[in-house]
Amino acid sequence: MKVLVATEKPFAAVAINGIRKVMEEAGYELCLLEKYTEKKQLLEAVADVDALIVRSDIVDAEVLDAAKQLKIVVRAGAGYDNIDLAAATAHNVVVENTPGQNSNAVAELVFGMAVMAIRNMYNGTSGTELKDKKLGIHAFGQVGRNVARIAKGFGMEVSALDPYCPDEVIIEAGVKPVHSVEDLYKDNQFVSLHIPATAETKKSVGYDLITLMPKNGVLINTARKEVIDEEGLARALEARPDIKYVADIKPDSAVELKEKFGDRVFFTPKKMGAQTAEANINAGIAAANQVVAFLRDGCDRFRVNK
Ligand code: 3PG
Repeated sequence: MKVLVATEKPFAAVAINGIRKVMEEAGYELCLLEKYTEKKQLLEAVADVDALIVRSDIVDAEVLDAAKQLKIVVRAGAGYDNIDLAAATAHNVVVENTPGQNSNAVAELVFGMAVMAIRNMYNGTSGTELKDKKLGIHAFGQVGRNVARIAKGFGMEVSALDPYCPDEVIIEAGVKPVHSVEDLYKDNQFVSLHIPATAETKKSVGYDLITLMPKNGVLINTARKEVIDEEGLARALEARPDIKYVADIKPDSAVELKEKFGDRVFFTPKKMGAQTAEANINAGIAAANQVVAFLRDGCDRFRVNK
């Protein structure tokens, strides 16, 4: 069996070593395509592979068409909006993710960015603290739960909105459940976004929600740029000069937002939430084990397509 790891944004070397070991033990051949710059390279590399491990790399119908032997794609990470699930199903390809494996890394970055925002981007001026401030977690999945755990260490008051998560789970984590999105934004100076990018959530956070935030609101987005209505964000930042927006991924209008709002906005140059050795090891090796479990034993426990 031939397994390709195709990562435009590569894993740490230590994670690749771990993946290699899993493949060697299974008797599979491992191929690497890292830092590729053109889709053509991916189309060529997938031609004869049985399994594909990716990160945010786009796996669309064209890639699936080119991958004649492909049986499984594992997205080493949480969000699988980069994979065309319907096309995968049509090609008889199983799609899996590795839930939870990189969530602590993303959650830690939330606080890295929150502190940076309220210390005025470390520009030497006097800032504020997180202690005793209110944090609203928008979606209480694996990342949201880690955010709640860390927030308590900072002494924050934490609430969360998640219609898909029972209140008991939220309460058990020592977090206050919130039942309307308006209340989440209205009551929390800090809001951390953890909703996936779906047809339902795309552009769902815009002017109306952002301007509900209390004075000195900080909106932190380590989820996906697509969940933000960028035109509404710009209007909100214009109307509310006290609000800041920090994001782990450049919005489409990054240049305009930066030009207009300067240090009130911050964007990482590349998605960095899961870019730690630990997250790479966890997600990469989980993906490798899932590939082997599927190809060898037919186990598809983490399947996300039908
Ligand atoms: C995820 O969905 O797991 C994160 O956004 C990480 O994405 P990445 O693997 O591209 O860093």
